[in-house]
Amino acid sequence: MWSLRFMYPAALLATLVSGASLTEEAAELTAEDTSGFGAIKFADAAKPPKVAQCRAFPGSDDWPSDCQWRRLNATLHGRLLNPDPPAAVCYQGDNYDSAKCRDLFLNAGDSHFYIDDPLSVLSQWTQGSTCKPALNAQGNCTRGGFPVYVVNATRVADVQAGVNFARNKNLRLVIKNTGHDFGGRSVGAGSLSIWTHHLKSFEFIPEYKQGEYSGMAVKYGAGLEAWELYNYMAEYNFSVPAAGGRTVGANGGWFASGGHGNLASFYGLGCDQALEIHAVTADGRAVVANSETNSDLFYALRGGGGSTYAVVTSVVMKAYPPINLVVTSLIVSANTGTTSASAYRTNDTEVFWTAMSTYFRFSAVVVDAGGVDWSYLTPMGNDTYNFNVRMTFPNRTAEDVAEILEPLYRDLKAVGIDLDVPEDLKAQPYATHTEAPAAPLADTRYRSRILPRKNWDDDELFAKTFAAIRESIEVGGYTFHGLAIAPTKEVAGWPGKTGAVNPAWRNGVLHSILIGPQPPGLTAEQAVQEEENIQKYMELWREASPGAGAYMNEGDPGEPDWKGAFFGDNYPRLLEIKEKRDPWGVFWAATTVGSDKWEVRTEDGYPRSQNGRLCRVKA
Ligand SMILES: Cc1cc2nc3c(=O)[nH]c(=O)nc-3n(C[C@H](O)[C@H](O)[C@H](O)COP(=O)(O)OP(=O)(O)OC[C@H]3O[C@@H](n4cnc5c(N)ncnc54)[C@H](O)[C@@H]3O)c2cc1C
Ligand SMILES: *[C@@H]1O[C@H](CO)[C@@H](O)[C@H](O)[C@H]1NC(C)=O
Ligand SMILES: *[C@@H]1O[C@H](CO)[C@@H](O)[C@H](O)[C@H]1NC(C)=O
Ligand SMILES: *[C@@H]1O[C@H](CO)[C@@H](O)[C@H](O)[C@H]1NC(C)=O
Ligand SMILES: *[C@@H]1O[C@H](CO)[C@@H](O)[C@H](O)[C@H]1NC(C)=O
Ligand SMILES: *[C@@H]1O[C@H](CO)[C@@H](O)[C@H](O)[C@H]1NC(C)=O
Ligand SMILES: *[C@@H]1O[C@H](CO)[C@@H](O)[C@H](O)[C@H]1NC(C)=O
Ligand SMILES: *[C@@H]1O[C@H](CO)[C@@H](O)[C@H](O)[C@H]1NC(C)=O
Repeated sequence: MWSLRFMYPAALLATLVSGASLTEEAAELTAEDTSGFGAIKFADAAKPPKVAQCRAFPGSDDWPSDCQWRRLNATLHGRLLNPDPPAAVCYQGDNYDSAKCRDLFLNAGDSHFYIDDPLSVLSQWTQGSTCKPALNAQGNCTRGGFPVYVVNATRVADVQAGVNFARNKNLRLVIKNTGHDFGGRSVGAGSLSIWTHHLKSFEFIPEYKQGEYSGMAVKYGAGLEAWELYNYMAEYNFSVPAAGGRTVGANGGWFASGGHGNLASFYGLGCDQALEIHAVTADGRAVVANSETNSDLFYALRGGGGSTYAVVTSVVMKAYPPINLVVTSLIVSANTGTTSASAYRTNDTEVFWTAMSTYFRFSAVVVDAGGVDWSYLTPMGNDTYNFNVRMTFPNRTAEDVAEILEPLYRDLKAVGIDLDVPEDLKAQPYATHTEAPAAPLADTRYRSRILPRKNWDDDELFAKTFAAIRESIEVGGYTFHGLAIAPTKEVAGWPGKTGAVNPAWRNGVLHSILIGPQPPGLTAEQAVQEEENIQKYMELWREASPGAGAYMNEGDPGEPDWKGAFFGDNYPRLLEIKEKRDPWGVFWAATTVGSDKWEVRTEDGYPRSQNGRLCRVKA
């Protein structure tokens, strides 16, 4: 039977506030549980790992029998799922249901449907677009890159059984939380998926001590989403850095590669807040990692990438008092046919670009004031452009922010953008209550570059940087998404500054993203062509910022130098930890540390797609 272990020193003053019980979630797998079923046995450290050429695949000789899947399901108390892709209702066959299809097609994207679905991911191309929601769909719905079986985990023991079964049975394992990953890291053909979505425990800890930290903390399950954490903040009067995108995980992949949000230039990244991490390692054991215990994992799990070293089950994070933000926006357009009261429109393209250069130069001022901005510059065709930016300043008064913005508006006026500092500035709470937000499918693909401070300190280098950005929008036709963020070591504090997050974050000013379309209808040849096209423009960015990094979570699985770009100098140490902790290669996802030993063999050659069998790269 399951043994219930209380993972907390009883002396800690803790308030359990969630419906999902923390002790129930913490229940671990015991050797006794595994004794009758060899397929879920823990790894034997004395036995060297034997790793096959390819992972098992439905139909392969080593694919587990139905009987073994049934036994796994019994071990999981019936929590093993074998779901159909949700859009199967749109295709001819047993699942066809025109009413359900209509509802899916019209409404799923306006709701939380895809996050609550065990298979779905928001970037369809990564799965192979094999079962796209469509009215009057042609062809067949196939499973493609979606997992075959899913462990609907609600306890640590479920995660352990899933990891042990995958390792012992040579299965491809994926971990899915919200399915937001832009690079297909939460899907995989022929896989068993551990779905962390229902690990939702939450606990507020008024006093917590760990190393140099003493203060408030929260402990929550790996499946909590940003909006749920904001709701707890609003209810219990604390703040924790969380994603601006409210459907993103409050832990999961967001945290695993950094995790930015509105407090990132003030308190640091998501992973900078961790005081202790609870996880299941590749050998199937449940471990606690902090600055003193399993410190290698504590380092790697704070920014060294998801789906690599362990499955995180819960995390203890620093918590701060409630905080206010002053939020303001600026909208400028060029040559557009429409106007609006809040948007300034110029009919002079050069004035527009000069204004853009002025704005982006100002990013350094925003981050130095502890703020963050979030902008889109979109080419609308025929030399028309829209620009909008939302700036947020934590712990500042309206008067402070008016003063900070004054030079920006003065400079904009000087170049012909006749706007004044907004008069309606006011502080508002960082944490506000929300209902489950909508999460639509997103058929785009991000490329990233974390542009460093030195590109702002030097006029000539800034001009070169901005010229590269302009060309990618004006000539390339791509949308630019900029995030001015400065999670320096100073703001990260202890233990944040000791984590494995991409060092590029520590001296970055503008996380710059080039958004390319990646619609489901693209053929493999077209996808290859598109990769080549956008890389021409990314190359200009790289030339302006040699050695700069990129954010894996909003970056490209096709990033040419992904080791250097996503991990920087941390790569060698992270690889050592990966090899020590996971010699079986149980955890695999594209561009994660050590992932170059394996490749996905697709039938159609579609680049970076997860719709194929996972095999070792031939030496
Ligand atoms: C609409 C939208 C808004 C976004 N907003 C922001 C933002 O404000 N700030 C920001 O920094 N990023 C943002 N992102 C990017 C986001 O950080 C990434 O998509 C990230 O991968 C999401 O993590 P997840 O756990 O929610 O998603 P998933 O796709 O489920 O997981 C992502 C990766 O993490 C792994 N993983 C998940 N859970 C675990 C676990 N418990 N243990 C080990 N590995 C795990 C998965 O295997 C996968 O490799 C946004 C993305 C979208 C689509
Ligand atoms: C697992 O067991 C539950 C409960 O018995 C059942 O509803 C479910 O369909 C089973 N899963 C699979 C994949 O067979
Ligand atoms: C769909 O599946 C059916 C039955 O397996 C098959 O006959 C048909 O050719 C398939 N259609 C396409 C477009 O692949
Ligand atoms: C997964 O488990 C949760 C918690 O028990 C449950 O509410 C949910 O319905 C399950 N999901 C599926 C698809 O079975
Ligand atoms: C949070 O603060 C508000 C206002 O000060 C107070 O009314 C409320 O009781 C507090 N909530 C908790 C859980 O302490
Ligand atoms: C731009 O042109 C439109 C009509 O084409 C005009 O209405 C508008 O006033 C012009 N804007 C400026 C700032 O000159
Ligand atoms: C651009 O202008 C041409 C010629 O006036 C017109 O045919 C075309 O539709 C325009 N494109 C867009 C995207 O507005
Ligand atoms: C917030 O601002 C106030 C007033 O300037 C200052 O006293 C306080 O220390 C700031 N809080 C933090 C966490 O920096």
